[in-house]
Amino acid sequence: MTDTHERRRDWEQRYHAGQTGWDRGDASPALARWLAQGAIPRGRVLVPGCGHGHEVAALVRYGCQVTAVDIAAPPVLRLMAELAELGLQANVVQADLLHWQPAEPFDAIYEQTCLCALDPSHWADYARRVADWLLPGGRLLALFMQTGRDGGPPFDCPLPDMRTLFDAARWRWPDAPPLEVPHPNGLVEQGIEIVRR
Ligand SMILES: C[S@@+](CC[C@H](N)C(=O)[O-])C[C@H]1O[C@@H](n2cnc3c(N)ncnc32)[C@H](O)[C@@H]1O
Repeated sequence: MTDTHERRRDWEQRYHAGQTGWDRGDASPALARWLAQGAIPRGRVLVPGCGHGHEVAALVRYGCQVTAVDIAAPPVLRLMAELAELGLQANVVQADLLHWQPAEPFDAIYEQTCLCALDPSHWADYARRVADWLLPGGRLLALFMQTGRDGGPPFDCPLPDMRTLFDAARWRWPDAPPLEVPHPNGLVEQGIEIVRR
């Protein structure tokens, strides 16, 4: 799994160098909004590409059974230590999402800028995996990074492309416009809630 080793090395280098411009330092306001709306079920929730996982404690406190996955050791170890300090329980896993399989499917997936971290050559595979990880009727709450430029990471995730990737054959899309979620780094994320058919 050389590809996994390379991906892991690249992301761990970013963490060791403190190049974590994606990190808000706190949970996204989108999470508070979705929790207040009851958009996230109190069931099994996956947080892929969790990074420092500021959202994980909030989800656990809300009543979710959370699995958080990241390829890089530094954020995984930090998140495990933080949860232990808070006396909260979650399943925090270091794994490559392009190979990982859960033992059981999830009721919801909170995908905060994980897709934009993957090379677009892996997007179709990742989108298939996300669909497989969810139960029928399960929800994908996604924050898609908008960069408006070529290259990455972060790679641009324009909504029309996301509609093609998370296609209508497998997903029910809302009529409502996406949430516009400004990031402290100057970029904007678009938040959508789609349902697995
Ligand atoms: C843009 S960061 C987002 C982190 C976090 N969700 C946040 O919003 O702060 C992307 C994260 O995905 C992780 N990642 C990248 N490729 C991955 C892969 N193939 N499998 C698992 N995690 C991956 C990186 O280590 C990084 O923590």
